[in-house]
Amino acid sequence: MRRPWVGGNWKMNGVRESNAALLDALAAAEHVASVDTAVAVPAPYWQQSSDALRDTAVAVMAQTVSPHASGAYTGDCSVAMMEDFKLAGALVGHSERRQGVGENDALVAAQFAALQRAGLTAVLCVGETLAEREAGDTLAVVSRQVLAVLELMGAEALASGVLAYEPVWAIGTGLTATPEQAQAVHASLRAVVAAFDAPAAQALRIVYGGSVKADNAAGLFAMPDIDGALVGGASLSAPEFLAICRAAG
Ligand code: G3H
Repeated sequence: MRRPWVGGNWKMNGVRESNAALLDALAAAEHVASVDTAVAVPAPYWQQSSDALRDTAVAVMAQTVSPHASGAYTGDCSVAMMEDFKLAGALVGHSERRQGVGENDALVAAQFAALQRAGLTAVLCVGETLAEREAGDTLAVVSRQVLAVLELMGAEALASGVLAYEPVWAIGTGLTATPEQAQAVHASLRAVVAAFDAPAAQALRIVYGGSVKADNAAGLFAMPDIDGALVGGASLSAPEFLAICRAAG
């Protein structure tokens, strides 16, 4: 039985005042004990988030990470900086980083490795574009993205993190993959990992992301291989995000 994981990805949203209201609501809420909950916040607000959520059930994460320990990497943040602010880990390979900033499979695998070496949680995001889906390449694309980490790190290391399937065409568009569409990809991803290590594949949490809302979460979570969600827009509303967390419990 896998423990559900629900993360909120705030992306590049919020300022101190709006964050405070959201964080206060998350800190005050009663969380479902059976669900791991996290928020991935912009780097300037690590401290604010870490302070507000200290001693709560909600972990704070970063949205990306440098694969390097330190040095001349302008604009990047290291694993050591995340540890300094008591962060639980980071997202890696989000499609907005792959497409917008050019992060590739090799870099994403190195980011995963940097987090894993430090004992932090890596949330590996994979997903196909609409053109790739229409060309029938969905499984080839997501398998390639997962294999980049599997081949570098092995299945046990992968299972120490979380795998997030996020079809690019469903992100921020209001177009959610149907539970059946998402389940089919999740099951295939689990089979890719099982070919390396069957117990690790069974332990791996595979969560879905792409226009998850309170009203579609339960249908997705009812699928056998959907172990939670990575929530973007809806995580900016505490009631909406908390309802999604409850649906995972
Ligand atoms: O990381 C989260 C995903 O990009 C989903 O974003 O819920 O706004 O579609 P969304």
